[in-house]
Amino acid sequence: MSEAEWRRLNRANWDERVAVHLKPGTRYDQARLRDGTARIGAITGAILGSVAGQKILHLQCHFGMDSLILAQHGATVTGIDFSAPAIQAARGLASELGLETQARFLVSDVYETASALPEPSGFDRVFVSWGALCWLPDMAGWARVVAHFLKPGGWLALAEAHPAAYVFDDAAKTADGRPGWYAPYLGRQTMVEDHAEDYADPSARLTNTHTHEWLHPLSDIIGGLLAAGLRLDAFHEHEIVPWKMFDCLVPDGDGFFRWPDKPWLPLAYSLRAVKPG
Ligand SMILES: C[S@@+](CC[C@H](N)C(=O)[O-])C[C@H]1O[C@@H](n2cnc3c(N)ncnc32)[C@H](O)[C@@H]1O
Repeated sequence: MSEAEWRRLNRANWDERVAVHLKPGTRYDQARLRDGTARIGAITGAILGSVAGQKILHLQCHFGMDSLILAQHGATVTGIDFSAPAIQAARGLASELGLETQARFLVSDVYETASALPEPSGFDRVFVSWGALCWLPDMAGWARVVAHFLKPGGWLALAEAHPAAYVFDDAAKTADGRPGWYAPYLGRQTMVEDHAEDYADPSARLTNTHTHEWLHPLSDIIGGLLAAGLRLDAFHEHEIVPWKMFDCLVPDGDGFFRWPDKPWLPLAYSLRAVKPG
């Protein structure tokens, strides 16, 4: 199947999810964004560092919720996403919140960001988080995009679901209710999926259900960043993740979920990769 086909399928799926996620009461509820009390999560906040006065490129920004929170905390943010409805919603929210100067949003595929944003590189941070990399087929190409946009001394702040956790899935649930073996860690295959469910709203049923996704081993993600000339400055593994990745996970407070008993394997990781100055 051609590259255009994976992008077309995935974009249709994400375009449809925007309206679902904009509804009040989902994980993307915007009440706190609107009243100015929203804050970025603990894991992403720690890896981003202080954002006031920083120029941030937010890749795969969805409808801009985290981008706008960063803008509310003093950053100047450019959000990129390939979903036109997501970017339209992000612009609407920026306008409603009076943040158009601090936050701008562009429709672009990640791999084509240099065409959408032809200004000289020079961002203090490139920010990528939570459920972004599984939608991209090529980590080396992604890392080159990140490196292109960072200024010397700037860093990628990445917080993601752990690929070791993506090996397991509720579609292969075991008798004790835990997720079973699903995708080989080193398989490096396109995962052709067909899911009507949405992670943010259990009651939603999507019609654009076919997607192409990828499980990237850590060596491909970190190897791509090193090959693009970045230096790994921090790497953390976490026993929590900010969505109910598996049915058996239990709330941990502050919007996170953890294993019900023991930290069997990491559910998330975060890293900082610096462009040498
Ligand atoms: C799970 S969401 C990311 C969530 C976001 N980090 C947040 O916390 O709100 C994944 C996003 O990636 C976008 N996306 C997927 N593939 C993309 C691509 N090839 N280029 C640009 N955006 C893409 C989708 O439109 C969606 O908004």
